[in-house]
Amino acid sequence: MSRGGSARIDELRELIRHHEHMYFVENDPEISDAEYDELMDELAGLEEHRPDLVTLDSPTQRVGGAPTDGFRTVHHMVPMLSLDNTYSADELREFDRRVRSRLEGAESGYVVELKLDGVSVSVRYEDGVLAVGATRGDGSRGDDVTANLRTIRSIPLRLRGVTSGSLEVRGEVFMPRSGFGELNGRRKKAGDPPFVNPRNAAAGSLKLLDPRDVGGRPLDAFFYQLLGGEATTQQEAADEMRGMGFRVNPESTLCDDIGAVIEHVQAWESRRSGLDYDTDGMVVKVNELSLQEQLGSTSKSPRWSIAYKFPAQSATTGVEAIVVQVGRTGKLTPVAELTPVFVSGSTVSRATLHNQDEVERLDVRVGDTVIIEKGGEVIPKVVKVVRSKREGRPRRFRMPDSCPVCGQTVSRAEGEVAHRCLNVRCPAQVRGSIEHFAARGSMDIEGLGPALVEQLVGSGLVADYGDLYGLTEEDLVPLERMAEKSASNLLEALRESRKRPLARVLAALGVRHVGVRVAAQLAGRYPTLDDLARAPADEIAETPEIGPVIAASVRSFFDSPENAKVLDKLRAAGVGARASKRPSTSGSPLAGKAIVLTGKLKTMARGEAREAIEAAGGRVVGSVSSRTDLVVAGSGAGSKLARARELRVRVISEAEFVGLLER
Ligand code: IVH
Repeated sequence: MSRGGSARIDELRELIRHHEHMYFVENDPEISDAEYDELMDELAGLEEHRPDLVTLDSPTQRVGGAPTDGFRTVHHMVPMLSLDNTYSADELREFDRRVRSRLEGAESGYVVELKLDGVSVSVRYEDGVLAVGATRGDGSRGDDVTANLRTIRSIPLRLRGVTSGSLEVRGEVFMPRSGFGELNGRRKKAGDPPFVNPRNAAAGSLKLLDPRDVGGRPLDAFFYQLLGGEATTQQEAADEMRGMGFRVNPESTLCDDIGAVIEHVQAWESRRSGLDYDTDGMVVKVNELSLQEQLGSTSKSPRWSIAYKFPAQSATTGVEAIVVQVGRTGKLTPVAELTPVFVSGSTVSRATLHNQDEVERLDVRVGDTVIIEKGGEVIPKVVKVVRSKREGRPRRFRMPDSCPVCGQTVSRAEGEVAHRCLNVRCPAQVRGSIEHFAARGSMDIEGLGPALVEQLVGSGLVADYGDLYGLTEEDLVPLERMAEKSASNLLEALRESRKRPLARVLAALGVRHVGVRVAAQLAGRYPTLDDLARAPADEIAETPEIGPVIAASVRSFFDSPENAKVLDKLRAAGVGARASKRPSTSGSPLAGKAIVLTGKLKTMARGEAREAIEAAGGRVVGSVSSRTDLVVAGSGAGSKLARARELRVRVISEAEFVGLLER
């Protein structure tokens, strides 16, 4: 083919990008679908003859990836936080007071945006080309869903006007209501179960393993946050993203004060039903980015923003049964099984009744008509019994005396609301504790989900999480649906998990009152599991943020002879044995990272930068390779920077670097 062919390829790509932008982002197409198809066909034809000219950012390459058997993990350099929720004008005023007292007189308005109800994602562009896209996951690590995001045609594969540097945008992938209706219509016809609501459909679609399937799902995306741009306000950042070709929600209103914010969010309560996508509230943000930075974040959420949730919607339905579920701590929870009813976007057929006291307070009985309420992602709850509709004299509900799963005694401790099954061998508890042990925030054992746990426990191979480390290929292969490949994958994942730092091991054990945060504190004080297991309660209680109740719970966990046997198995496998490295730095985004310094830094000498990285738990390495996590580029950076770009290693500026050191 002549050079003319390659020039035509470039021209077609430009044209198609423009028309895709007009159609999918601006909603203002300039050509007909047939004309668009013609351009695409021509490009695909030319590329077929010149495969050497096919680039990843060509419009023909949206659905290019091969199916995968799982998603790689992506570490978010800047954590993806969540937002605190408010439900009333008073709470919004409180938020405003907190903001203003921290800003000590600095003035900023608030931007109010719609809170889009989808799946949050983070997408990184290198030199203007889409490089990696990931789900939020647990906020610090998510799934690499790049191939799936590439299929969403409102997400640019190549940015407009940006050809160098690295930037990240965050936003929400969602399914429009109209597309959701059509998709469910097709699924019903094909005999597939329909999705309950657009959010589940979007989440389920992003998790599909074959990008070709995702390409057939009506997904779309709005972006609301830009990391590494030039804007000085939230509204400018939105414009900057629009300029780059992203779809940004048009609803963004600048309010001078909290009074105006309150009026605005209240006005939207009724307007939102007219949109073609779901919103579960509004997001209020301090407009000035410098003030956002000054306000900072807690470990969970930014102090410069808050969500206002629209009031929960309610519905009336019947109670068909009250069943009792047993959780991993043995807690019994009464659950109302309801006549299915549609409320705020999905069909509800169960609602939690929490505990015996709550059942008595509501006096809910089988056969009753009840009002249920559902707000956002909260599990629906029964708020009221419609007494006038009660027929006959249905029996009161009573918690069973014996566990519905294992039949052993149930008891309610002095001063506690919960009834618990006391049998630590109860299958419900065994399964629950193993699922918790293997979960992402805990030991993160890939492939070990509820179905496999049930198989392992049901077949008698595993009676507690300590047994996991004794599993062999011969044990696993005979299990149903377990091919040799998945058996060896699971064993590999188990081997891998033995290296988890102590904080995760502690959170995984399922000690009462010991969640991620407490576990991190304990791991900061005690280098190994054995050190903690030997510590007296009053010494444990001297750990920062830990009081006598938690200390006693930890002590009684380690004192139990049952648990001692399980811990022996973990010890034998080497779990929790490694002295944790510099526990106080494990929360730094630089911890464990291989970092290259290049060019001249303005605010510190090379030696100082190295010390700061090491103090944060990172390593400084001399040359850029595919194993490098990060390159810090000062002024005059040369070949290392070029090499980093080539290998698509993340490059950050000195300012970003200083920002990461401070977190
Ligand atoms: S800003 C916390 N703006 O709500 C970091 N978030 O509960 C700043 N969301 O995880 C987020 N619409 O997925 C922001 N206009 C909007 C949003 C929005 C929806 C989601 C987002 C976040 C969640 C927080």
